[in-house]
Amino acid sequence: MVIVDALFNSNAEIADKIELITGIRPKLEIFDLCDADKSADFFRRHNDLKGVIHFAAHKAVGESVEKPLMYYRNNLVSLINILEGMTDNDIPNIVFSSSCTVYGQPDELPVSEKAPIKKAESPYGNTKQISEEIISDTILATELRGIALRYFNPIGAHESALIGELPIGVPNNLVPFITQTAIGIREQIRVFGDDYNTPDGTAIRDYIHVVDLAKAHVVAIDRMINGKMKKDFEVFNLGTGIGYSVLDVIRAFERVSGMKPNYKIVGRREGDVEKVWANPDFSNRELGWKAEQGLDEMVASAWKWEQAIRKK
Ligand code: WQD
Repeated sequence: MVIVDALFNSNAEIADKIELITGIRPKLEIFDLCDADKSADFFRRHNDLKGVIHFAAHKAVGESVEKPLMYYRNNLVSLINILEGMTDNDIPNIVFSSSCTVYGQPDELPVSEKAPIKKAESPYGNTKQISEEIISDTILATELRGIALRYFNPIGAHESALIGELPIGVPNNLVPFITQTAIGIREQIRVFGDDYNTPDGTAIRDYIHVVDLAKAHVVAIDRMINGKMKKDFEVFNLGTGIGYSVLDVIRAFERVSGMKPNYKIVGRREGDVEKVWANPDFSNRELGWKAEQGLDEMVASAWKWEQAIRKK
C-alpha cells in the first residue's frame, strides 16, 4: 500500500501511526497530485496497483465559497492527473471520496442515491458533482471501473487517538472547532444560524464516525477487486440515516466531556444547506456495510484525539 499526500492537512507521522495501529507500514510519497509530471511518474512506478482510493481534496464548504479557484484547481486537476495516470497504466479500479453536498438541499429527506443532483450550494459541492461526471465519462471511454462514496459528515478519530483530523490553522468544520474551544485554543464556537426550519433552528447534518467510513472503503475496494460490482460506475451514500443539529452535537460534547464550551449564535454561513441526512438502505444492503457508532461515541473519540495531540 502506498499513500500520496501533499500534507496540506496532515503530517508525515501518519505512516508511523498507521504502522502502530495495523502493524503494516505504508509507503508514503509526499507530493501534490496537481503536479502532472510527478503524478505521471508515480503511476509509471506503481503500474501494478490493483486500485486507487482517492481522498485527496480540499473539503471545507465555507472555505470553498471564499476561495473557489483554489477548490476547483486542487480538486479537479488532481483528479484528472490521477485518472490519466490510472488509464495510462491500466490500473482498473478507483474508489472516489464524494459527498452528500452533490445533492444540494434535497427536496426529500432522507436522501437516497436516486435523488436528483441539484445545483450545488458551494464550490466544494460543485467540485464533487463535476468530479463524479469526469469519472463517469472516463469509465465510458476506458476499461476503468469506479465507485463514488458520498460521505455525509465524517467526524471523530481512531479509538487509539493515534490518528484523527488535523486541521491546519482555524478549523472550518464544527467538531474540531468544538474540541479546540474546549481545550482552550479557540475562544468561542460560532453557531452559524438558528433561524433554519429545524426543531431547534440550527442546521441538521448526518454525522458518521470516520472509522465507520473507513470500513466502507475496505468493502468498496474489495467489491471492485473481487468482481462484485453490478455496474462499471456505482454510487453509495455513507451516512447513518440520523440527522443531528449543531446544538445536538454541542450537547453531545457536553455529555461526553462534562464541559460546557462557550458558544454564540451568529448569522448563517454562506454555502450551507439547511438539513440533510442519508437514506443508507442501498449501501447497507448492497455493500453489506452499516455505520455502527452513535453521536456520543463519535464526539468522545474526537475529544480523546484533541486531548492526545495537545498532550492534556
Ligand atoms: C456542519 C454544521 C455548519 C462550523 C462537511 C464536510 C464536507 C462534506 C459534508 C464530505 C453546519 C455548522 C460549522 C462552525 C457551525 N463531507 N458549523 N460552526 O459544512 O456540513 O461539510 O460535511 O465530503 O466535506 O466539510 O460540515 O462541520 O463545516 O458544518 O455552526 O464553526 O455545523 O453551519 O450546519 P459541512 P461542517
